[in-house]
Amino acid sequence: MMSLTHHHLLFPCCLLLLLVRLSGASGVSPWQLITPSVPGRLVFPPPPSVPAENATLEYMDPTLPPLLPAHNPKCSLLVLQYNFADTVGAPPVAANYTPPPDCPAPWSRVVLELSASASGLQKDRIAALWLDGAEILPPTTPYPMAPGVFWRVRKDVTRYTALLRGRSPYEGDQPCVLSMMLENSNAKYPGVYSVNVSLHFYRGALCSGGRCIGLKPAGETKRAELGPALSAHPTIKGIYREPADMIIPISNGDGRKGFWFRLENETEVQGTTVRLPNNTYRAVLEVYVSHHGDDEYWYANPLRTNGPEAEGLQPQQGGDNRLESSKANGGFRQVVATVDGRYVGSAIPFPVIYPGSVNPFFWAPVAAIGAYDHPSYDLDLTPFVGHLIDGAPHVFGLAVRDSQPFWLVSANLHVWVDAWSDTVEGALVRYKVPPFRLSRQADWTEREGKSEIEGQVIIRFSGWVSSSKGNITTSVRHKIKFKSHIEAEEKGEMTSVELESKARTNIRIEREDQVIGRVAVETETPLTMATMSSNGGGGSRFHKTKLAHALMETRSVAENKGTSFSAVADRQDSEGAVLMEEGVAMWGNGDTKSVYKYRDDKGCYLRTVNVVGGKVKEDEDTASCAAAAVAES
Ligand SMILES: *[C@@H]1O[C@H](CO)[C@@H](O)[C@H](O)[C@H]1NC(C)=O
Ligand SMILES: *[C@@H]1O[C@H](CO)[C@@H](O)[C@H](O)[C@H]1NC(C)=O
Ligand SMILES: *[C@@H]1O[C@H](CO)[C@@H](O)[C@H](O)[C@H]1NC(C)=O
Ligand SMILES: *[C@@H]1O[C@H](CO)[C@@H](O)[C@H](O)[C@H]1NC(C)=O
Ligand SMILES: *[C@@H]1O[C@H](CO)[C@@H](O)[C@H](O)[C@H]1NC(C)=O
Repeated sequence: MMSLTHHHLLFPCCLLLLLVRLSGASGVSPWQLITPSVPGRLVFPPPPSVPAENATLEYMDPTLPPLLPAHNPKCSLLVLQYNFADTVGAPPVAANYTPPPDCPAPWSRVVLELSASASGLQKDRIAALWLDGAEILPPTTPYPMAPGVFWRVRKDVTRYTALLRGRSPYEGDQPCVLSMMLENSNAKYPGVYSVNVSLHFYRGALCSGGRCIGLKPAGETKRAELGPALSAHPTIKGIYREPADMIIPISNGDGRKGFWFRLENETEVQGTTVRLPNNTYRAVLEVYVSHHGDDEYWYANPLRTNGPEAEGLQPQQGGDNRLESSKANGGFRQVVATVDGRYVGSAIPFPVIYPGSVNPFFWAPVAAIGAYDHPSYDLDLTPFVGHLIDGAPHVFGLAVRDSQPFWLVSANLHVWVDAWSDTVEGALVRYKVPPFRLSRQADWTEREGKSEIEGQVIIRFSGWVSSSKGNITTSVRHKIKFKSHIEAEEKGEMTSVELESKARTNIRIEREDQVIGRVAVETETPLTMATMSSNGGGGSRFHKTKLAHALMETRSVAENKGTSFSAVADRQDSEGAVLMEEGVAMWGNGDTKSVYKYRDDKGCYLRTVNVVGGKVKEDEDTASCAAAAVAES
């Protein structure tokens, strides 16, 4: 993925480019060029022709469109419209935002819609959206390998209601500001990204007559009715339960280079000083992270404790930094949040694969999981509220353990305040944070070997907060289990990456020794990737990759007699080959099968998208739980 710094901007492949190159190769058949240098070892079938390029190709993220009421939005607002041409080094684009006067808060749902198109070829770019400095969408752009690519991201942003309400007269009469950054360069490519950002506001029942309707983009006839009511989108379930009263950005207030903090190494902690309202009774920290530069492939980074100074594998000629990161410090990263220097929560980041990573042909036109809307990580800080409301300023910090340059991080502190009292008090009564010890084993000789990082930790804290809602004790138990196995054979030409990461958060809410609520969130994110590489000739490298990746999450909430449950299983299997030259895909092909399954206490949704050689061969969705159950088995 293109970093924010301005370095090599090269053309993605088109057949034309390759043919020109090959025809210059004096009588050598194209396939000989990509035949491995060791005869008789790896033999690849002749690659099929590059998929036909069409000017109206949708790049998509086959997840659940936010389910909406059966009626139209009460109102829709186009907040920002901009053409991002040559924006390197430019500050984010800003637009004033005030909620539509004809449909004031509260809303039963708010959906953000980002629709964008690329005028021509481009690389994938880093982008993000902030509302008053609070990150609300950290997307990546696709890697448009044909002119006229467009895509759309729809995200349930109901949990940002406190920001979307705009400012009250007490808070000054300045409107809120929606900022968007998309650092594009026209140094080599003329490709311009045209972006529209809209908000759709809904009021009233979320579903009518037991049926909901998905947001139907113009011209789309499929995916209309989605069967039984799905009452809530997964993102509002779980730890939030309801939108917060206030959202405090833990971000870089300067904002001229975006509101992220940029972390350059594992020791760096960046953050903001915040003074919380003294009637706060609940707090959740939502953390956003993205990995770039030397850590673009952190999940495939080998660990080398022996060998030449535990250094990274030297990039081969034409290398494209997949197992060749600058430091071979292993495939483990942990995002850690601190308050006044003390650990308050962490997450193993989901290894988002960028549209230009591994094999760009895998992700055209279907995005890798989370690429257009990275997952965020919710940390319940309620046990610390007693400490946070002492009237003193507190430093909220973010760090990424074992990281290399660079990570972009920020967080939103969601705060619930007790309108009925200004004498909330509380205390942390239990804090058990053992160090996350990892066993790290490595055995390498030159370019071959294997390494493993493994560990698990259980963290517990609990605290009480006494407010008009009673004296409530919140106990958090967080378990993380992690394993990374990376292996290279055949002088580094055969590599395999296996990552297993599991997390479970259990929250128990008690009043007067009686349990009044329980929340459980469980995630599992397996990744396996096997690559065979060979010399592609002319300084290029040929990689044949098989990849399986999934994001599985279940959330359950039991509170005040009510219970809710939701489960998402988003899985992709890809296979194909790519010819890389200086980090750029010169030629390739890929098949990707995506299966997205959503189930909650009211219904099911299953979408299967099958892309073969860059063409969508199957795109089916159903609200049948029976079909979802079949897909499960
Ligand atoms: C490109 O798209 C247009 C309109 O959607 C369609 O008519 C045409 O057949 C497509 N061309 C190819 C080569 O797929
Ligand atoms: C943005 O909206 C305008 C209409 O307001 C429309 O003409 C244009 O095609 C839209 N662009 C994208 C990328 O959706
Ligand atoms: C980490 O990065 C920061 C900011 O760039 C720098 O000041 C610090 O010296 C670095 N630390 C190490 C150990 O490299
Ligand atoms: C909380 O803040 C309010 C307004 O700032 C103030 O009036 C009140 O005395 C404070 N309460 C406590 C317990 O500090
Ligand atoms: C709230 O409950 C905790 C634990 O049960 C107790 O230690 C604390 O004193 C109580 N606080 C108030 C204000 O009653």
